[in-house]
Amino acid sequence: MHIQSPKGTRDMLPKDSFLWQWIEQTMREEAALAGYLEIRTPVFEYTELFERGVGDTTDIVQKEMYTFLDKGERSITLKPEGTAGAVRALIENKLYAEPLPVKMYYLNNPIFRYENPQHGRLREHHQFGMECFGVKGPSADAEVIMTVLRILSQLGLTHLSVKINSIGCPVCRPSYHEALRAHLKEHFEGLCPQCKERYDRNPLRVLDCKEKSCQAIAKEAPNILDYLCEECDSHFDGLQQLLHVREVPITIDPQIVRGLDYYTKTVFEIIMQSPRGEMALCGGGRYDGLVKEIGGPDMPAVGFGIGTERIILELQNQGIVPPTQAVTSVFIACLGEEGRLPAYQLCMDLRDAGIRADYDHMNRSLKAQFRYADKLGAPFMVIAGGDELQRGMFKLKDMQSGEEKEIPMQEAVNRISLIVNQK
Ligand code: HAM
Repeated sequence: MHIQSPKGTRDMLPKDSFLWQWIEQTMREEAALAGYLEIRTPVFEYTELFERGVGDTTDIVQKEMYTFLDKGERSITLKPEGTAGAVRALIENKLYAEPLPVKMYYLNNPIFRYENPQHGRLREHHQFGMECFGVKGPSADAEVIMTVLRILSQLGLTHLSVKINSIGCPVCRPSYHEALRAHLKEHFEGLCPQCKERYDRNPLRVLDCKEKSCQAIAKEAPNILDYLCEECDSHFDGLQQLLHVREVPITIDPQIVRGLDYYTKTVFEIIMQSPRGEMALCGGGRYDGLVKEIGGPDMPAVGFGIGTERIILELQNQGIVPPTQAVTSVFIACLGEEGRLPAYQLCMDLRDAGIRADYDHMNRSLKAQFRYADKLGAPFMVIAGGDELQRGMFKLKDMQSGEEKEIPMQEAVNRISLIVNQK
């Protein structure tokens, strides 16, 4: 029987590993520059965490979670996003008692959502995310936005638009909900069935519905920014100033509301183009109520998540390839049986010296070993055997220039290391 990978999942193949590692490396470096430390949380959590954290009116909790009972009859869910787990860990490990702010990032966190797989939408994807806890003012919002923009620019990505909005707080949002519901009520028949359901429980989500009829209604809806309380308004102004002084080209888009319930004040998305129109490359925002909601202290927070698979799509769209490094710097071929042990010894010695070296495992002919070394892209080849070996020598070949030289076996490691490192 031919078993395939589950629908909506992808293998990361060895040939793509440079790409993934280059992206990871860039993320790690940028996170470190901004003083964020890595956190790793379990792939699964108790379901209640997401019901309370992400919100039981969201699409994620209602339809997309991989939830099951474990053998102890506990309801378990595979992480549908990274923030709730990070908050749970912050509370459980009392990280909130450390000097503030507490700044953490997660790298290629596997995230599971039972969605309809399509271009850029998977059932298992991987997120890099940053979360900053304990800062009330907009400086932390600016820091996380600036950091993700630095990551994207270090990867060479351009022409992405940054959309920001504020969705208020528990003080001002109720009056906006009221105004929004009044507007939606007038156009209720034009709403899609899902938005009709959202009307009562989560009217904000109508604003980012992808259905054309809902979008037309949303366009005419009252603007949330007109309903912000003084604190939310000045927070939003402050953030815009911090982005303007760094000349970040932002678009204020009152339609950005995000698909998770925990957001307050700032929300933002970085948008890329896809065959089906605009798609979010990154999404984030402030979630000042979540730590308390999950049982911790009253602690403001802000962060974002960015999907690695979508970054890869956008790199491909923009024709960007990672800097490559030869998998093997030196391939040691053996000529005849007597060359086998010296080749193996030299290979191990070179590896001890930090040189990427490989040798023949397949009993290939010398010609076939050359072909294989060529396929590996090895810039140097050593031949162990024949007349040279009897004289205590290896033959070193520079595969680019074709130049060959003999090297005494005792000096081989030092001389080859020197030559490889100079290249
Ligand atoms: P999110 O917008 O649901 O936010 O996801 C963040 C990013 O993950 C998206 O912008 C996208 O790149 C990627 N992504 C989401 N769903 C899929 C999918 N089905 N297939 C491929 N990629 C996908 C969150 O998850 C929040 N926890 C972000 C956050 C952190 N907010 C504050 N802190």
